[in-house]
Amino acid sequence: MKLRTLKDVDLTGKRVLIRVDFNVPLKDGVVTDDTRIVGALPTVRHILEQKGTSLVVMSHFGRPKGKKDPAFSMAPIAKKFGELLGRPVQLASDVIGEAVSKEVGALKSGEVLLLENVRFYKEEEANDPEFSKSLAAFGDVYVNDAFGTAHRAHASTEGVSHYLPSVAGLLIEKEVKFFAPLLESPDKPFVAIIGGSKVSSKISVLESLAKTCDAIVIGGGMAYTFLKVQGYSVGKSLLETDFLDVAKSFLDKAKERNVRVILPVDHICATEFSEAASPVGIDAIDIPDNMLGMDVGPKTLELIKEELAHARSIVWNGPLGVFEFDSFAKGTREVAAMVADCTGTTVVGGGDSVAAVNKFGYAERIDHVSTGGGASLEFLEGKELPGIKALEM
Ligand code: 3PG
Repeated sequence: MKLRTLKDVDLTGKRVLIRVDFNVPLKDGVVTDDTRIVGALPTVRHILEQKGTSLVVMSHFGRPKGKKDPAFSMAPIAKKFGELLGRPVQLASDVIGEAVSKEVGALKSGEVLLLENVRFYKEEEANDPEFSKSLAAFGDVYVNDAFGTAHRAHASTEGVSHYLPSVAGLLIEKEVKFFAPLLESPDKPFVAIIGGSKVSSKISVLESLAKTCDAIVIGGGMAYTFLKVQGYSVGKSLLETDFLDVAKSFLDKAKERNVRVILPVDHICATEFSEAASPVGIDAIDIPDNMLGMDVGPKTLELIKEELAHARSIVWNGPLGVFEFDSFAKGTREVAAMVADCTGTTVVGGGDSVAAVNKFGYAERIDHVSTGGGASLEFLEGKELPGIKALEM
């Protein structure tokens, strides 16, 4: 995959239209996790360092369903962005229209204008050509750095690219640099760790990764469906009965391809799904009828450690247990530490596993912590991401 990048355009004197993903968590009007804003700063700074440039920034925030809703205003995000960038960020009065055109037209070299939430207009998600043209009129060049939204074919992520010279920003370049080789030619041995609650939402990523990896660790709630189909008792654990055949066929295919599948061989269980529940160690694959699996046990962690010890590439998506509850966080925390200790290339993608490496303090020791949730999953599934496709050479 070869993308047009910032190296392919001369930005001197240009007004640059950039799409970022500033869809960040807010609490009481304050940004609680600025990772995505920080992730876009290298590109923003690079553009502003070029002589005579000014910047029009676009993002969505939440899902306001095509209506102007003050609860979804970019205002708190503009404030945080300005603080992190260390220069004023002006918030536009709207997304498109005459007033915004004037605000854009008044921009001087070095100035930054953040448009209001692009999803205030239903035309954004409809990828409406007229709306895309209106946005494109705000810039001479389009830079897309919104990896987190690259799986959406929306006006600001894809439509605009039809009307302006378009290149990838540094964040998209970095995300692709780490993700693409995992599906093409990863350094071997390559181990994938896939957790999370549902087989239904992870089966495509398992099938895709099984083409290039040497081993797959399956953890989290979805592991019990894989155990059940092999004849084990899973008690009251999460089970997707509709996906037993799918799980069986995946295990058969993995065997044919000589991909080792590591499933839990012991568990930390509870009698109910509750933070207050007492953890009970079960030193067997079978789970008693009155219990449900909440985390992987120590023997499983040993197996994972052996597998990861000589890995040259690791990708991790999805927690191994209910890590939000302290009593059931050990599996996910220890796996985060093992990934951090790996001397090969390590990539973590997907909202929950990223939250886990941040929570346990390992993010700095991982080569790439993705800013994409749904986007990183779709990338690993081998799907074409419209926002990235539009930037290909
Ligand atoms: C995300 O948070 O995954 C992206 O910003 C995309 O948001 P969406 O799922 O509302 O399109």
